[in-house]
Amino acid sequence: MPEKEPIRVVVTGAAGQIAYSLIYMIANGDVFGREQPVYLHLLDIPPAMGILEGVCMEIDDLAFPLVKGYVKTAEPKDAFEGADAAFLVGSMPRREGMERKDLLTANVRIFKAQGQALDQYAKKDVKVLVVGNPANTNAFICSYYAPSIPNENFTAMTRLDQNRAQALIAKRLNKSANSITNVTIWGNHSSTQFPDVINAKVVEPADSVSVYDAVKDTKWLESDFIKTVQTRGAAVISARKASSAMSAAKAAVDHMRDWWNGTPSGKWVSMGVLSDGSYGIPKDLVYSFPVTIANKKWTIVQGLKITDFARSKLDLTAAELIDEKKEAESICSA
Ligand code: NAI
Repeated sequence: MPEKEPIRVVVTGAAGQIAYSLIYMIANGDVFGREQPVYLHLLDIPPAMGILEGVCMEIDDLAFPLVKGYVKTAEPKDAFEGADAAFLVGSMPRREGMERKDLLTANVRIFKAQGQALDQYAKKDVKVLVVGNPANTNAFICSYYAPSIPNENFTAMTRLDQNRAQALIAKRLNKSANSITNVTIWGNHSSTQFPDVINAKVVEPADSVSVYDAVKDTKWLESDFIKTVQTRGAAVISARKASSAMSAAKAAVDHMRDWWNGTPSGKWVSMGVLSDGSYGIPKDLVYSFPVTIANKKWTIVQGLKITDFARSKLDLTAAELIDEKKEAESICSA
């Protein structure tokens, strides 16, 4: 069979810690498949070009057959030219004691500029995954400033939160993480997010049971479990003195791989996508919903039971996103 044409994959923040793990996995075929060659477009800022040079030496030394070449650049035009997929990681990371809101002012301008560059230079069907925080609001801004690209092509990463929730339930039940399915992260990638296992299942080879029935501890599921997932990022920062990187890179891989290849029948994943008003969430917020994916298009799962307990949590995280969006819009229009 003739070799496929390489696709152009952008990684911003390419000299940073998430990118260091992410680039390896893209180059290895973990995202786009073992038969899909890639051309890497690596963007960072001028002071990081020396580090990026070292990363590129290591890409050479990986000697992976799928990597057909790379550009390393501080120019958005060169980074986004002809892009098929983009991982927008580059931004200022949250440091210990820093609130996500402090990040907003610093980072939202980066995503405005990158939205404009995507609009001008990327393919119109480019798939954009925003990882850099505040990820949901950055994705909204990026999409807003790229009006020629459909807004469904911009998503924000809440997959790390989903993976954290799955892993926590799995550990409690002494199961493997992939036996826990249909966990939903609602809302913002922040401490207001709602990790919801009301519709989640523990899937065994012969049977499946609801997480609530398997765990048999509603109090834990509705208190400590939620809190632990919500504050996991801060816990990692406090222990590692740096924000989650290896697990964030793996989550970005999971997110883009599922977007590219689709979700298996009966399973859903969580992604920050532009709200269409589903579940009473205001339109035009990038809000994390449960989605299924086919033909590279996501669809919000409809008809899930929203208990009174869940309702207040969905609304709380939406309120935070409304505030963030207002602030971001005023920063961008200033
Ligand atoms: P890092 O500081 O190691 O790397 C960030 C890189 O971005 C640096 O090399 C920096 O020079 C670069 N950068 C800054 N401005 C840029 C610009 N305008 N264009 C291109 N590159 C630029 O940070 P790390 O750990 O890799 O984290 C990156 C982002 O991901 C942070 O915002 C962090 O908060 C976020 N994050 C998001 C998660 C999620 O679940 N959505 C999980 C973990 C981290």
